[in-house]
Amino acid sequence: MITSANIAEIRAQIKTWRQRGETIAFVPTMGNLHQGHITLVKEAVQRADHVVASIFVNPMQFGQGEDLDAYPRTLIEDQKALTEAGCELLFTPTPDIMYPKGLAEQTFVEVPEISDQLCGETRPGHFRGVATVVCKLFNLVQPDIALFGKKDFQQLLVIRTMVEDLSMPIEIIGVDTVREASGLAMSSRNGYLTAEEKAIAPALKRTLDKLAAYVQAGDTPETATEKALQQLQLAGLKPDYISVRNALNLAQPRSQDKHLVILAAAYLGKARLIDNLEFSR
Ligand code: PAF
Repeated sequence: MITSANIAEIRAQIKTWRQRGETIAFVPTMGNLHQGHITLVKEAVQRADHVVASIFVNPMQFGQGEDLDAYPRTLIEDQKALTEAGCELLFTPTPDIMYPKGLAEQTFVEVPEISDQLCGETRPGHFRGVATVVCKLFNLVQPDIALFGKKDFQQLLVIRTMVEDLSMPIEIIGVDTVREASGLAMSSRNGYLTAEEKAIAPALKRTLDKLAAYVQAGDTPETATEKALQQLQLAGLKPDYISVRNALNLAQPRSQDKHLVILAAAYLGKARLIDNLEFSR
C-alpha cells in the first residue's frame, strides 16, 4: 500500500487508474481503525478495482473542549490493517494540507436541517466539519463509490444529502454496524472506557432493542422514549438524547411512517457513545 500526505501524488495515482478505466472505492476515516473500518475496506474491495482510504483527524468537526488532541493516533497499526484488508492507497494529510488558510477562512459545506438536530444540537458545527472534509476528500480522490458505517447514521444521511444536493457522481454505501460480542457498537472512542464502564456500555444497545419492542407493541414513540431514558439512567449512562425518527429523513415520525430509526447518544466516563437501530412497525 502506498501512503502519502501529498495531494499531487494521490491525484497522480488516481489519474493512472482512471485512465485505464478502472473503478475506485473510497473509505474516509480518522484512523485508530477497528473491525468496523476493516469491514468497510473489505466491502470496498468487493465493489471496485482499487480501494483508497484516508486517515485525517479533522479539526473542523471537533468543538471546543472536545477530544481533538486526545483522539488516538495509531498510524503504524492502521497501515498494517489496511494493507491486509486490501487497501492500495492511503491519504494521510495534515491540517495544514487540508486547510492551508486556517479554519476561519475555509469555505465550508453546510447541509441544512439534518445537521442541526440530535448530535448536531449537542455538537454545533460538527456536521459542517464532516460535510466540508468529506466534500474535499471526494474532490481529491474522485471515487465511484464511498463507504460509511451505519453506526454514524446521522452522518451517513448528511453525506447522502450533500451528494444528492450537490450532484456529486458518487454512490454512497452504508455498511452495517460491527459490534463487540456484548452488543457494544465498535468505535475508536470505546478506548476511553475503563473495564467497569465497558461492562455498563452495552446497556445502550439493549435499551435501543427494548425501545423498538415497545413501539412495535403499540406504545407511542414518546411513551417508549420516556421508559428508555429511565433505563439508560438506571444502567449508569448519562443520556444526551434518545429519539425515534423517520429513517429516511430523521423527521419526527408520523403515525403512518413504517421505517423508523432510534438514535441515541450517552455519556459514560470520558466517552460519548452513539448508537442507533433501524426497525419497522
Ligand atoms: O466517521 C468518521 O470517521 C469521520 O467523521 C469522517 C467521515 C472520516 C470525516 O472526518
